Amino acid sequence: MARIEIDRSGETFTCEDDTILRAALRAGIGFPYACNSGSCGNCRFTLIEGEVEHGFGKAAGWSERDIRRNRWLGCQAIPRGDCRIKLRLDDQYRPAIRPAKTGALLESVREITHDIREYDLRLDRAMDALAGQYALVDLPGMTQPRAYSMSAIGEGGALWSFQIKLMPGGAGSSVLAGLSHGARLSLDGPFGTAHLRPEAPRDILCVAGGSGLSPMLAICRAAVADPRCGARNITLYYGARGMADLFDTAILPHEADGTPKLRFVPALSESAPEGWTGRRGMLHEVVEADLGADLARHEVYFAGPPAMAEAMERMLYQRGVAPEQMHFDKFL
Ligand SMILES: Cc1cc2nc3c(=O)[nH]c(=O)nc-3n(C[C@H](O)[C@H](O)[C@H](O)COP(=O)(O)OP(=O)(O)OC[C@H]3O[C@@H](n4cnc5c(N)ncnc54)[C@H](O)[C@@H]3O)c2cc1C
Ligand code: FES
Repeated sequence: MARIEIDRSGETFTCEDDTILRAALRAGIGFPYACNSGSCGNCRFTLIEGEVEHGFGKAAGWSERDIRRNRWLGCQAIPRGDCRIKLRLDDQYRPAIRPAKTGALLESVREITHDIREYDLRLDRAMDALAGQYALVDLPGMTQPRAYSMSAIGEGGALWSFQIKLMPGGAGSSVLAGLSHGARLSLDGPFGTAHLRPEAPRDILCVAGGSGLSPMLAICRAAVADPRCGARNITLYYGARGMADLFDTAILPHEADGTPKLRFVPALSESAPEGWTGRRGMLHEVVEADLGADLARHEVYFAGPPAMAEAMERMLYQRGVAPEQMHFDKFL
């Protein structure tokens, strides 16, 4: 077991069979991060004393310059002994629920669209998570876990559901596609800061690109059920390429008489069939055209492919939405 000291912070923690980032979060420390997958670079630290190795050597978020300056990625670095590291801690990353590892049984799989499936995992022990958070799932035969956001956290934390897009040619996707009821997996979580803020006083706007639907659905479901959000309007925009990417709206939260409890706005960016009267175009442009100056009155949540998330972020800044009102994950 290694002892990790964060220089000039007074914080120390132990790390055993773990990455430095995840061990810090398990110890309740506000270690900055986002993707947990080696891509964003947010978890970078400088190694002052000791030795570490990277689980994923070719991580996209780790540059030649980082290597020259002895900077490492917390989500990939595994200590070889005691270490002293340097980084700026930030309380917004201090986990409300400390992540933990558990085994899980794949209980069921459903089709949501032609390429998104929803997987229900029954955890060996119930664990809580906030709506909008994600887990790291170990897939059989893969050396690194994949990040997937929960679409629902049910049965008091015993059942976590995930909507996952099967990417053509993706190594993780091809393993997932072959899994069926009864498969054993292990997962680690919850992670992420793009979760529902039920105490925020503004209307709720969720924007999902493709499989970004998973955490946005979790947020909508939790907001509808939370009395603290009772007075807020809840709107979900969903960006799809064509009709094959649309899903059955029965999965959205509904009143007993079948009326949706939120406003749902699908937008098609590529092919729209004759007679389609809904929105067309790129998701961030559709949202801007519809809400414009009203955007700053919303608490905005969004998730999806990096290009979509970056376009949303830029547009929201230009529209005067404060960074504290934006909560998002880029599916790197
Ligand atoms: C915070 C977050 C939440 C996400 N939530 C969802 C979700 O809810 N639903 C969904 O469909 N997708 C989600 N994703 C995307 C998902 O994690 C995968 O990146 C995506 O499914 C890629 O498919 P793949 O695993 O088949 O691709 P692959 O090509 O197998 O892997 C792609 C990802 O794994 C990394 N990778 C590949 N090989 C290695 C290796 N040898 N060692 C280490 N890392 C490697 C890559 O850097 C890349 O990030 C999320 C991503 C992030 C960061
Ligand atoms: S959190 Fe480590 S690279 Fe993104």
